[in-house]
Amino acid sequence: ARQSHIRNFSIVAHIDHGKSTLADRILELTDTVSKREMQAQLLDTMDLERERGITIKLNAVALNYTAEDGETYTFHLIDTPGHVDFSYEVSRSLAACEGAILVVDAAQGVEAQTLANVYLALDNDLEIIPVINKIDLPSADPEMVKGQIENQIGLDASDAVLASAKAGIGIEEILERVVTDVPAPDGDLEAPLKALIFDSIYDEYRGVVLSVRVKEGTVKPGDKIRLMNSGAEYEVVEVGVNSPKPIKSELLMAGDVGYITASIKDIQETSVGDTITDANNPTDAPLDGYRKMTPMVYSGLYPTDNAKFVDLREALEKLQLNDASLTFEPESSTALGFGFRCGFLGLLHMDVVQERLEREFNLDLITTAPSVTYKVDLNDGGEKIVENPSDLPDASEIKAINEPYVFAQIIVPNDYVGAVMELAQRKRGIFETMDYLDDIRVNVKYHIPLSEIIFDFFDKLKSSTKGYASLDYEIEEYRPSELVKIDILLNSEKVDALSFIAHREFAEARGRDITSRLKKIIPRSNFEIPVQAAIGAKIIARTNIKAYRKDVTAKIHTGDPDRRAKLLDKQKKGKKRMKSIGTVEVPQEAFMTVLQTG
Ligand code: GTP
Repeated sequence: ARQSHIRNFSIVAHIDHGKSTLADRILELTDTVSKREMQAQLLDTMDLERERGITIKLNAVALNYTAEDGETYTFHLIDTPGHVDFSYEVSRSLAACEGAILVVDAAQGVEAQTLANVYLALDNDLEIIPVINKIDLPSADPEMVKGQIENQIGLDASDAVLASAKAGIGIEEILERVVTDVPAPDGDLEAPLKALIFDSIYDEYRGVVLSVRVKEGTVKPGDKIRLMNSGAEYEVVEVGVNSPKPIKSELLMAGDVGYITASIKDIQETSVGDTITDANNPTDAPLDGYRKMTPMVYSGLYPTDNAKFVDLREALEKLQLNDASLTFEPESSTALGFGFRCGFLGLLHMDVVQERLEREFNLDLITTAPSVTYKVDLNDGGEKIVENPSDLPDASEIKAINEPYVFAQIIVPNDYVGAVMELAQRKRGIFETMDYLDDIRVNVKYHIPLSEIIFDFFDKLKSSTKGYASLDYEIEEYRPSELVKIDILLNSEKVDALSFIAHREFAEARGRDITSRLKKIIPRSNFEIPVQAAIGAKIIARTNIKAYRKDVTAKIHTGDPDRRAKLLDKQKKGKKRMKSIGTVEVPQEAFMTVLQTG
């Protein structure tokens, strides 16, 4: 049957180890796209992805491969992102596969996200094919990497494929291994339809396009389907596969990865992780959905032009369809007007959402500094959830402020344990225990405030461990902390969107630090602008932005035209994303100064 000739697999790797390049080579070798059409990193369809060189959204593509056994196979290749913020995308694509190609850089070896992704693949019972990539590099050491894969991951690496995605070495061997090692999908073709939605996008003409993995039964145009979670029913208009352009087909059957359209206009009714079944002959139980991701970080998104509020709402609704972990609700700010409080998985996620909104929906936005959710015990016995620091009640009403803690497990070679502990301590971490996993690797466990984790913990962890630490954490509980709200005043006016919450012990230092950063960022005006930080009525830091000087280049006496042009350019760029607050022009970066520590 056709089913025995289907292979569904993903490529997983640490960031930059070469999975997009490998995917490109595979598409080329299978003639899925002609050389002429071939654009570097074809699967990274978003401009943003191409510019940043990172994969954000997963993409599924169908391709045909004629193997050495003379048979032609249909491969469904699902590309996955590498950054931790997007690990929910990884687990989504893995749930649609039977196998995974594990790409490890021959010079870098096993790194943090290699481990994290392998564990996700193992959780999904996937067959793993280890590939050691970049063997063309002079610094490549495939034997060392094999050892790491065996010792640190516990996979047999004796038959790992040695490859260079760049030079096109080992690509056929990888495809052969997909045929021989990855199991064909099973699933009863006669059973009622059961299909997993693993992604969806909104198309102006076709409505919602659902990306699905059919687990049981078949689906074809004209069928009446039901989304089990929402209960909504539709008639299928079209089914097909992406290759990588959409190609209609007569039906999708158990084992297939493809798309379904059904003139779905109501984007609220389709959610990723839901199960599709036959409305006339429904299956008894839905598939296990994906773990629902809870946003970790909240921030305010405001249009620089207040008239664009409705456009922003529509854009967020459309984006949410494509990005299940994004949440939003309306809020207002004295300084910024009407906008939305949005929930994100992390800072990169926040950054990407903002950029997608600006590019794909043509909006100009101000993002306020991210914050976690606080639980406030009030003196009158009540409790208040605070997602926005400026909503914190008056100090006189507060009995205690509780902040979310995470249980963090940091896996690191033992040489770096000292550095990890030093960092965790500095971030108010509470040491739990430390386990040796083998001769080299240690699992260090801490309870750490989430607010410390989301800001720069991961970056600091990476830099202090040469990228070897892998971090995994789960929210555990709220604990009381000595927290205070710090307000920022510009020209003696409180700017609610700049308020933040910090530990009392660090409050004054943070206040001083932020006022001096703001002084550098906010452009001069024709009057002096005082910048102050305050806790309640008490001013804890102050500085002044001196009055205006006309041309920033005036003081450069050397006639270096390059330098002058650069400065003027910088000044022009600085004009973007400004918001007038009272009489002061505040650039976007100002709202992010709160994030920077020391
Ligand atoms: P993300 O999508 O950001 O997670 O990265 P990725 O894993 O997809 O990496 P990508 O394919 O973008 O490759 C990262 C860099 O490594 C690029 O500059 C590639 O040109 C380079 N690269 C990929 N494969 C090879 C290889 O076999 N040899 C050499 N020398 N460079 C390679």
